[in-house]
Amino acid sequence: MVYYIWLAVNGLLLIFSLLFIWVFRPYDSTTVLAGKLLAQLAILLFFINVNMYFIFLVIRKSKVRRVKVTLSKRARTMMKAHISLALAGASMILLHGIVMIWKLGATIGFIHPKMVTGYGSIGLLAITLFAGFLRHRKASRFRRKFHLITAMLFACLFLIHLFWSI
Ligand code: HEM
Ligand code: HEM
Repeated sequence: MVYYIWLAVNGLLLIFSLLFIWVFRPYDSTTVLAGKLLAQLAILLFFINVNMYFIFLVIRKSKVRRVKVTLSKRARTMMKAHISLALAGASMILLHGIVMIWKLGATIGFIHPKMVTGYGSIGLLAITLFAGFLRHRKASRFRRKFHLITAMLFACLFLIHLFWSI
C-alpha cells in the first residue's frame, strides 16, 4: 500500500514538474533554456538519490521476505551510482546557478525569491554532499541522521524553488 502511494507521489511530482517547467513557463533565450534543461536533468538525479530513503524504509518495514530481498538487491545497485549521481547533479546545478545569475539576475533582481531559494538550495546541497561524504567515510548514528535530514531539507527547498513563479 505504502509502496503504491510512494510510486504515485513520484509519478505525480515528475509530471507536475515537467508540465510546470515546459508548459506554464515560457523561456526567453537559448542560454536560459539550456540552464533550465540542466536543472531539470539534475533534479531527476536528485529524485533518485532522495528515493533511497523510501527504498530503505520499505526494506525495513516490509514483512514479506521476497520484497525485502528484491529491494535490497536493487538498493545495492542503486547505491553504486549514488555518489556519481550526486556529483553529476551538483555540477549541472552549479552551471544552472551561474547561467541564471548571469542571464536573469539583473532582469528579475538578485534578491528575487526565485534567486534566494536557489542560493539556499545550493547551500543545502553543499551541506548534504559534505554529510554524505562523512557518512561514507565512517557511519555513526549522528552521521546517518545528519545526511538524511540535510537531504530532506535540500529536497524541500529545491521543490519550493522549482515551483516559485517569477
Ligand atoms: C545559485 C543558485 C540558483 C539560482 C540563482 C537559480 C535561479 C533560477 C531561475 C532564475 C530560474 C527560472 C528560469 C526561467 O524562468 O527560465 C530557475 C529555474 C529552475 N531551477 Fe534554479 N537556481 C539556482 C539553484 C537551483 C538548484 C540548487 C536547483 C535544484 C536542485 C534548481 C532547480 C531549478 C529548476 C528545476 C528550475 C526550473 C523551474 C522553472 O523554470 O521555474 N535551481 N532557477
Ligand atoms: C544530492 C545529494 C545527495 C542526496 C539527495 C542523498 C540522499 C540520500 C538518502 C535519502 C539516503 C538514505 C538515508 C537513510 O535512509 O538513512 C542516502 C544514503 C547514503 N548516502 Fe547519500 N545523498 C546525496 C549525496 C551523497 C554523497 C555525495 C555521498 C558520499 C560521498 C553519499 C553517501 C551516502 C551513503 C554512504 C548512504 C548510506 C547507504 C546505506 O545505508 O547503505 N550521499 N543518501
